[in-house]
Amino acid sequence: MKAVGLVRGKEGVHLFDAPKPTITSPRQVLVKVIEAGIDGTDFETVTHNRFSMSQEEDTMIIGHEAVGIIEEVGSEVSTLAVGDVVVPTVRRGCGLCAPCLHNRSDMCQTGLYTERGIKGANGYFTEFFVDDEDYLVRVPDGLEPYAVLSEPLSIAEKAVDEIKHFRSRVFWSCNHPEHSIESQGWGNCKVALVIGAGSLGFLSTAVLRLSGIHTFVAEIAPEDSLKVRLIKELGAHYLNTKDKTAHEVTAEIGNPDIIIEASGATELALNLTTGLARNGVCVLTGIPSGSKEVCLEGDLMARTLVLENQIVFGSVNSGRTHFDMALQDLQRLREEYGTTLSKVIQTRYSLGDYKDAFLKRDAEGIKSVFNIYEGGV
Ligand code: BGC
Ligand code: ZN
Repeated sequence: MKAVGLVRGKEGVHLFDAPKPTITSPRQVLVKVIEAGIDGTDFETVTHNRFSMSQEEDTMIIGHEAVGIIEEVGSEVSTLAVGDVVVPTVRRGCGLCAPCLHNRSDMCQTGLYTERGIKGANGYFTEFFVDDEDYLVRVPDGLEPYAVLSEPLSIAEKAVDEIKHFRSRVFWSCNHPEHSIESQGWGNCKVALVIGAGSLGFLSTAVLRLSGIHTFVAEIAPEDSLKVRLIKELGAHYLNTKDKTAHEVTAEIGNPDIIIEASGATELALNLTTGLARNGVCVLTGIPSGSKEVCLEGDLMARTLVLENQIVFGSVNSGRTHFDMALQDLQRLREEYGTTLSKVIQTRYSLGDYKDAFLKRDAEGIKSVFNIYEGGV
């Protein structure tokens, strides 16, 4: 079968032939890939040639966002059937630490986890993969066309869920019982700033908007670009941060209760934490690849963190429950912002077009995907 990824000892991205995987234990499932999303991490893996397979392997299939259709199930598979449409999770636990043993490898304590398509395991830029039923989440009918967004959406779900966890310290922060942290409209009366309008920024904005949060999105893009238009369609406000300091940003929008960093723009993001509102929470989800030194207003930052009870934290990967939340929110997004959602994926490539997919990094759209099995969605 065709596969796209890294080849040991060679630079860049390659198309190669890989053996079709087969079921080797009773709880495994064979999945035919319909679509696989291309993400910043894939570009990083290729650019920095992060080959991380065992000595026996000379190739590494990349890609970690996928939707597929089940072609075969092992004899003990009980929750899935042939023909079901599924999305796979990414991380496989170390098998040693408590979080991994409790199916929360996104919180792995040893760092010995693998990630399909990223770290030590083959990914989904290919025609078939095999995995345990525990790592496959069934896609409800009607959501198939958007299901490839489940993985990045699950990252946003985890980040927002943790924000809610921290916000629950002050669940009485406004006087409206209907905005309690447990309610669907918990975000009303709150202001958020999302940094970055790529797929993670867009999907984080979508989750915040579903909770009624007044949301600003910081990006550097022309006002009439698709990115900006889609952000506005979600009811969020666009903020062009070109050449703006953190102080200028907060002078414009006030002090946000929530910041979601989804761009890897370290300097602006960390300095913006000084603009958080009292009891504010900032989560970093973008993964900067460089080692650039940045200038931070350290004293101001520490002072406001202490005097204003603020929290700045990082969040990576997602657990299976976050995939369930993602699929529920995809359903709500389809109902409330259906036409917007259908414009998120602008570019579809075949595996054979892998060079274009990696060269023409899609600047205009929000997400590009490999469309692998045409008969799929
Ligand atoms: C993926 C995560 C992964 C992270 C770090 C992200 O692009 O969406 O699932 O944990 O990269 O490797
Ligand atoms: Zn672990």
